[in-house]
Amino acid sequence: MYRLVHSLTPLDRPRLGAHFVALDDTDRRLRFGGALPDDMLLDYVQGIDFSRDRVFAAFDSAFAVVAVAHLGIREGTAEIGLSVLPAHRREGLALRLIERCRRSAIAQGCGSLWVHFMSENQAMTRLTHKLGMSVTASQGEADARLTLPQVSALALGIDLYANQMDAMLGVLRHWTVRAA
Ligand SMILES: CC(C)(COP(=O)(O)OP(=O)(O)OC[C@H]1O[C@@H](n2cnc3c(N)ncnc32)[C@H](O)[C@@H]1OP(=O)(O)O)[C@@H](O)C(=O)NCCC(=O)NCCS
Repeated sequence: MYRLVHSLTPLDRPRLGAHFVALDDTDRRLRFGGALPDDMLLDYVQGIDFSRDRVFAAFDSAFAVVAVAHLGIREGTAEIGLSVLPAHRREGLALRLIERCRRSAIAQGCGSLWVHFMSENQAMTRLTHKLGMSVTASQGEADARLTLPQVSALALGIDLYANQMDAMLGVLRHWTVRAA
């Protein structure tokens, strides 16, 4: 099934929390570098600064988050953290999330896009290779990097439009679930 990728808003924090808490210890370690307990995952979600960073996700029919990318923006560079629930893997969701992150990072004037992962992570090794990212590995950890082009007026306009549409959908999602 083809799932759209949307930009999230602070209203989605409970959905994001439920997504991370649903990850098992192995996936928590691969995503966060350690098998964080539920309360630390919920603190992480509360700490996301939506005015600086971007969070993109795909939902199931009940608006549960099945895949998410947190795009952290710092001083001209962007870093992605990714997780996809096991039942929804190998559907191309990570690739689509990364593509949306790439466009968003370009629109925000970032010069490079990074993903940090453990070298043992076969899925990320294959995925970053498939995207043509340059990977450096050391002491069991790897950094994949993509150099980004300068933003064009068209790319900026498309990103702004997509974010506005998503913000509107975010409010509708919030009210639809509250009314159910
Ligand atoms: C890594 C992860 C995000 C991949 O998500 P996904 O949605 O299943 O990935 P995609 O379907 O977009 O796969 C894209 C490509 O990545 C590679 N890939 C993905 N999963 C793979 C696996 N288990 N084994 C080998 N290659 C894999 C393949 O090349 C795949 O293309 P293909 O299906 O055409 O062969 C997911 O497995 C996950 O959430 N893992 C736990 C958390 C984690 O490791 N996060 C990364 C650290 S930030």
